[in-house]
Amino acid sequence: MLERALSLRGRNAQISEEEDEDESKTRKNISVAMRATNHITYKFGVIWPCLFLLFLLLLIFSLIVRSRNLVCVSSYGSPYSRMSVVGMDGLDSDFGTLGVPWCRSKSERAVEWTSKDLLKGLEEFVPIYETRPIKNNMYGMGFDHSFGLWFMARWLKPDLMIESGAFKGHSTWVLRQANPETPILSLTPRHPEKYLKKGPAYVDANCTYFAGKDFVDFGNVNWRSVMKKHGVSDLSRVLIFFDDHQNELKRLKQALKAGFRHLIFEDNYDTGTGDHYSLRQICDQFYIRGGGHSCFKDSDEARIRTKRKKFWEKAVDIDELCGPGEAWWGVKGYMRDDFNHSNKAISFSEHFKNSRFVESVLDVYWELPPVAGPSLTHQTRYDPARASGPIVEDGRFGLFQRLGLSRLETSVFNGYTQMVYVQISEPSS
Ligand SMILES: C[S@@+](CC[C@H](N)C(=O)[O-])C[C@H]1O[C@@H](n2cnc3c(N)ncnc32)[C@H](O)[C@@H]1O
Repeated sequence: MLERALSLRGRNAQISEEEDEDESKTRKNISVAMRATNHITYKFGVIWPCLFLLFLLLLIFSLIVRSRNLVCVSSYGSPYSRMSVVGMDGLDSDFGTLGVPWCRSKSERAVEWTSKDLLKGLEEFVPIYETRPIKNNMYGMGFDHSFGLWFMARWLKPDLMIESGAFKGHSTWVLRQANPETPILSLTPRHPEKYLKKGPAYVDANCTYFAGKDFVDFGNVNWRSVMKKHGVSDLSRVLIFFDDHQNELKRLKQALKAGFRHLIFEDNYDTGTGDHYSLRQICDQFYIRGGGHSCFKDSDEARIRTKRKKFWEKAVDIDELCGPGEAWWGVKGYMRDDFNHSNKAISFSEHFKNSRFVESVLDVYWELPPVAGPSLTHQTRYDPARASGPIVEDGRFGLFQRLGLSRLETSVFNGYTQMVYVQISEPSS
């Protein structure tokens, strides 16, 4: 025994002075701890020192766990992986700078429906949506906007529904589900029946098509005569749905001139995105929270935009937002029209005047919220920091499941572009 103890001491003596200082500190600490333990053992017996050591170990362990949680791990691979590490950062922080712009209306009236009505509507709509004839509606509406159109058309119960831009007919089908007996007018250059030759499409029996050789652009229709022909005398009983990718200011003026009051725009694109000037873009002004932008590369906005672009495909950074002369409004200072085939550069003062005009004719402006938060739908396209709070909030998986939303494929949640419902009337003098 003694021999062993001596050889151990000998080995200890061989530990060179160059060895890690930390290690010698540890050894020193250990020997202090041992001496303290010996002292305690001498004073209090065996149980108490054991408990004391256990307590010490627990303390050290909890400190290690806490310090791991404080480490800022960044993972830009997916918003969900980041969410789990640093909370909901990719989802709703930085709202202050980006924010959610909206259009002011002259009467500041709100819509009649509540979030409870929307939830009830969702429960009803999911099984209807599952029976849709066009399962893959790429380039047309996905789930969010199909629900929005169905919900509003059903709520408003118009005498006539007009759509501009039908493609294969999915939106015509949605309007039909909302109001089975109501006549529809559909204006679209290519008749949906043409698509039937290649695959699924929808042609409605109670719809008058202005399509193919009968196509007339919404702005060139003699609405007085068409309304007379359809026995409509009260234009406030007509609902217009635009999904034709035309400048929304142009469409608003045309609808106002014809005397229509209820309009829905499918693609209410955010500033810096999309192929036509939208109401959302028009109302993006400095006096609106979340509106007005900075092209300054060292700004908070530039930093936040760069960060958010890593999460969301549709988010735009400062370079994409700004054109020559620091023009950020519309898309890089352009008022886009007709699927981006016709563009016009506008000055900031023109852009500002457009917003004042829009505000002067709006009675109601309501953007459809996304149906559910991105952690539920797994959509990766639109930035939730630029959209209103979802109908089913993140974290409410039980509700998401109960509503049947978990049965739908992820891809149907990827098309949200702030569909908007507006009520309009002539500007008050
Ligand atoms: C995005 S698609 C419509 C999608 C459809 N609403 C749906 O949900 O499936 C746009 C449609 O607008 C049509 N379009 C193009 N110019 C138009 C115009 N001036 N007026 C009406 N429709 C137009 C296109 O031919 C296309 O069918």
